[in-house]
Amino acid sequence: MPRSKETWYWPQAGKRWNKTWKPNPEFWRDKTCIDIGIWKGHLNARALKEYNCKTIIGVEPFEEHRVDCERVCPNTKLYKQIEDLPENISVDIIIMHGLIKLLGKYWKEQVSLLLSKVNARFIHVRHGVKNNFTGLDRETNIYDLKNYDDMPSQEELVLFFKSKNYLEKALNKHQGSCFEYKVDAK
Ligand SMILES: C[S@@+](CC[C@H](N)C(=O)[O-])C[C@H]1O[C@@H](n2cnc3c(N)ncnc32)[C@H](O)[C@@H]1O
Repeated sequence: MPRSKETWYWPQAGKRWNKTWKPNPEFWRDKTCIDIGIWKGHLNARALKEYNCKTIIGVEPFEEHRVDCERVCPNTKLYKQIEDLPENISVDIIIMHGLIKLLGKYWKEQVSLLLSKVNARFIHVRHGVKNNFTGLDRETNIYDLKNYDDMPSQEELVLFFKSKNYLEKALNKHQGSCFEYKVDAK
């Protein structure tokens, strides 16, 4: 019997928490966030409980995830896509975990649009190196991607955020794919 997306996702959640949220509690503590690609919100709910980290806005294109997320994170305002976000959002952290590779050739356009709408001191990104599709994960994008050929390298991403005035901090580098960017205050 083919695995449903749900059964594929569940074992991933704990790993994602350990890799992405757990290493740096002080970064998350008492912050407000917008999460692009919030999925079902389980990790955000845990961050609220453990760090009083409030995800006040989430973006998630897939309805089944949004429905679950509404239940798991009842205080998070959800939008279907970046285009739908209002202007002048202010939060402490923009979260993009496992998202940018799913934006295909539109990644620069989409992230630029996001940054034009959101003021935040920090951006927290989980972005690995190019790999092949392994089947089910390709279902979670809206561009009918056939591969990840258009995703930026980590180096390209660092340069892109620098051009937007966000400087990379070494804080999470030991995690391999997690990067924290802090706005250049000068
Ligand atoms: C790899 S999952 C990561 C989920 C969660 N952020 C985590 O770290 O466990 C990527 C999420 O981004 C969502 N997504 C895909 N395309 C998107 C888009 N264009 N805008 C916002 N979210 C998108 C997917 O539906 C999925 O929930």
